[in-house]
Amino acid sequence: MKVEDIKKIAVMGAGDMGHGIAEVALLAGYKVTMRDIEQRFVDRGLSRIKESLEKLLEKQKITEDNKKAMLANIETFVDIAESVTDADFVIEAVPEVMDLKKQVFQAIDAAAPRHAILASNTSNMSVTEIASATKRPEQVVGMHFFNPAVLMKLVEVIKGEKTSEATMQVTYDLALKMNKVPVRVEKDSIGFVYNRINAPTAILLRHIVEKGIAAPEEIDAKMKKVGMPMGPYELMDYVGLDVAYHSACYFADKLSRDYEPANWLKAKIDAGELGKKTGKGIYDWSKGRPEIDLSRAKEDFDPTVLIAIQVNEATKLLEGGVVESADEIDKAMINGGGAGFGPFQLAKGIGYDKLAKICDELAQKFSVKVFEPTETLKKGNI
Ligand code: 3HC
Repeated sequence: MKVEDIKKIAVMGAGDMGHGIAEVALLAGYKVTMRDIEQRFVDRGLSRIKESLEKLLEKQKITEDNKKAMLANIETFVDIAESVTDADFVIEAVPEVMDLKKQVFQAIDAAAPRHAILASNTSNMSVTEIASATKRPEQVVGMHFFNPAVLMKLVEVIKGEKTSEATMQVTYDLALKMNKVPVRVEKDSIGFVYNRINAPTAILLRHIVEKGIAAPEEIDAKMKKVGMPMGPYELMDYVGLDVAYHSACYFADKLSRDYEPANWLKAKIDAGELGKKTGKGIYDWSKGRPEIDLSRAKEDFDPTVLIAIQVNEATKLLEGGVVESADEIDKAMINGGGAGFGPFQLAKGIGYDKLAKICDELAQKFSVKVFEPTETLKKGNI
């Protein structure tokens, strides 16, 4: 199959990511089906698409006619088989629970046309394991979008152990058709690129709160002052504390116990305080986006520590052959979130020796092995 053969895209899940991906597919001119487990979830996803299209219309990025055509191009379903029956490409965006993903893939595999490619928008989980639930693992691929999908440019295209080169190419080309910036992930490794490189930041954020080093708002205010569109704690709320929690558990299980989620994070999950989506998380979102008081910035917090642990983690991906080059990593990091520069671009200005020294100090201060500098970082020959 070639990308030109794709006419209809089915999206499994109508939540934060599912509705956003469905909207991206509509904007690219595809016929779309969107499916969730209950009608009210599907309805909510559709109304979020309408709200977002309304914003794009206001900004004259689309016309009223475009909007009407897109809304005529989407059908919603609760039944999984009906939703994929004539799809050429399926994108799964259900919660990050491996057993659930496998069940969904088994059902899609049974009902989707034989030629269809089945993609998972998993944030962290093994594409190879997800593919094992199907009879077409060579047509299963990772296609990882970023939140909000309609605005963030990056799409990671992830090769599972059995994914064919043809499937990789069609998925890469589809991301281009969707006006995204695809990055090939050559090895199916936990967290892929963007989330893996950011994962050690979550460990540091946990320790900062647990050890009373600073309050979330003090760090967020500082990071906003140095130019980040969102502070790191605000971003956790924005993406969802449940997502942060499930990711931490998965990383802890598969990579290192250092990633174990914080007790305060678990308490928030138990209390149903998941961030933006429930109106309360680390911040109160009931009246919209929280106002971060910039005067509370913790001025002695040096953002270079965040760069150091990011660059260090990025060198692990180079060592493991997960991505082709440092430039590809920079491309992913610039387009996945709101950062203006990639970690290696920043590292060149700061110096690898300085970053290695910071990582060494952090590893000792917090007893976190994940922060220990790699040989590549220490040598700095990148
Ligand atoms: N649809 C259409 N337009 C939208 C929109 C949507 N869903 N959401 C926001 N916008 C528009 C707004 O209308 C606004 O337009 P304007 O500038 O013309 O008024 C513009 O985007 C900016 O929005 P805001 O004014 O509300 O706020 P910001 O300037 O802070 O931008 C943001 C919002 C784009 C989300 C920005 O804060 C940002 O880039 N944040 C970082 C996001 C990030 O890092 N994402 C990656 C998360 S990790 C992840 O996704 C991994 C996965 O595995 C979970």
